[in-house]
Amino acid sequence: MAKQKTQFICQNCGSVHPRWAGRCDACGAWNTIVEENPAAGIGGGPARAPKKGRPVALVKLDGESEEAPRIASLMAELDRVTGGGFVRGSAVLVGGDPGIGKSTILMQAAAALARQNQRVIYVSGEEAIAQVRLRARRLGAADTEVLLAAETNVEDILATLAEGPRPDLVIVDSIQTLWSDQAEAAPGTVTQVRTGVQAMIRFAKQTGTAMVLVGHVTKEGQIAGPRVVEHMVDAVLYFEGERGHHYRILRTVKNRFGPTDEIGVFEMGDTGLREVANPSELFLGERNDKAPGAAVFAGMEGTRPVLVEVQALVAPTSLGTPRRAVVGWDSARLSMILAVLEAHCGVRLGNHDVYLNIAGGYRVTEPAADLAVAAALISSLAGLALPADCVYFGEVSLSGAIRPVTHAAQRLKEASKLGFARAVLPSGSAEIAQVNANGLKGLEALPELVADIAG
Ligand code: TYD
Ligand code: MG
Repeated sequence: MAKQKTQFICQNCGSVHPRWAGRCDACGAWNTIVEENPAAGIGGGPARAPKKGRPVALVKLDGESEEAPRIASLMAELDRVTGGGFVRGSAVLVGGDPGIGKSTILMQAAAALARQNQRVIYVSGEEAIAQVRLRARRLGAADTEVLLAAETNVEDILATLAEGPRPDLVIVDSIQTLWSDQAEAAPGTVTQVRTGVQAMIRFAKQTGTAMVLVGHVTKEGQIAGPRVVEHMVDAVLYFEGERGHHYRILRTVKNRFGPTDEIGVFEMGDTGLREVANPSELFLGERNDKAPGAAVFAGMEGTRPVLVEVQALVAPTSLGTPRRAVVGWDSARLSMILAVLEAHCGVRLGNHDVYLNIAGGYRVTEPAADLAVAAALISSLAGLALPADCVYFGEVSLSGAIRPVTHAAQRLKEASKLGFARAVLPSGSAEIAQVNANGLKGLEALPELVADIAG
């Protein structure tokens, strides 16, 4: 037999290198390249005779049902993120930092489904049955029919799943613990994770089971990151949150069967994750509306408006190069806003340190937050609090223009619901007229506001 050729695979990004190196050229990570035998587990079996397939005309499929068959967990925040429930025959990857609450939310979902008489199997490779049961008891799920299995070997898992009636939902926690007899690599390597995930996806497709795979994201990349399997699965959800904060956000990153910009908001408590139906109330909960430097941003997450407080602190610097520190927003965008304020509004922050924070550890990705950031910066510089009953949104362009953003009416409706009476928004928002009819007063241009506060 010819000598097996091994490859060097980066455990962080999965790129293949001809020889070992200390640093991966593709992703820049250090010490992540591991020697693996890729042939094993992929082309290892006996040669198979090719089977002829028959393509089907699209028009002939017209009678097929439109909707993917789903299993709704009836946890509204989770179902929103998956697009209405787990899809049968599909695989979902739930990624997140260790300890963020992946096992917790999935055990709660498992219990909710078991209560609806779904057959749910929870395969734990990280914790022993006793540990899983302890958590389940804490979550008030100990009285459900969720089936537990503690396995890490892929072939054993498949054999276990094949036993008894076909499961509706299978949770594999986590993919980093999977190892297959077919792959000659250490558990946790990219080859093992990929082989294991492939086997699980094949099982899901063949049996019509909804498969949920849990993956840890590690910065160091010593364990194969789930990034390599992101393209193999049908949907990718990320569970995020700050360690010091109680709330958690489940975010869709990819979804072949639903929207990709939805979030579900949860709060971690003593008895598991509680759904937060109105995130704005949570994020604005402890607001001190008399303090300078705070502006409320009327944001959108997918189809849902979310109000958050943008906090800025501007202080004269003692350093040669002033500090710019941002939490929860893009630092390049902050530099842009500072440049626009300087160039078009005469607001000079060149010898000031600037700190920007999105309250509650929440992360904003929308350009619509520009206007709220600008307002917070100016308010802090001026040492004057912004009106407590006002929200801000709008994209700031390099020319200093405030550009309209989507969903203006929805943002304003949410603000109104939470007791805000005014909004600073781009002029020309198509919805302004309609909003005025709803009793909200729409202020328009930022330069006027700058003049009011700075003057
Ligand atoms: P876990 O679901 O084990 O995280 P992951 O699977 O993502 O690694 O959650 C771990 C954390 O959640 C742990 O620090 C304890 C906390 N926790 C609670 O605060 N309340 C609870 O009811 C549970 C089950 C966990
Ligand atoms: Mg876990």
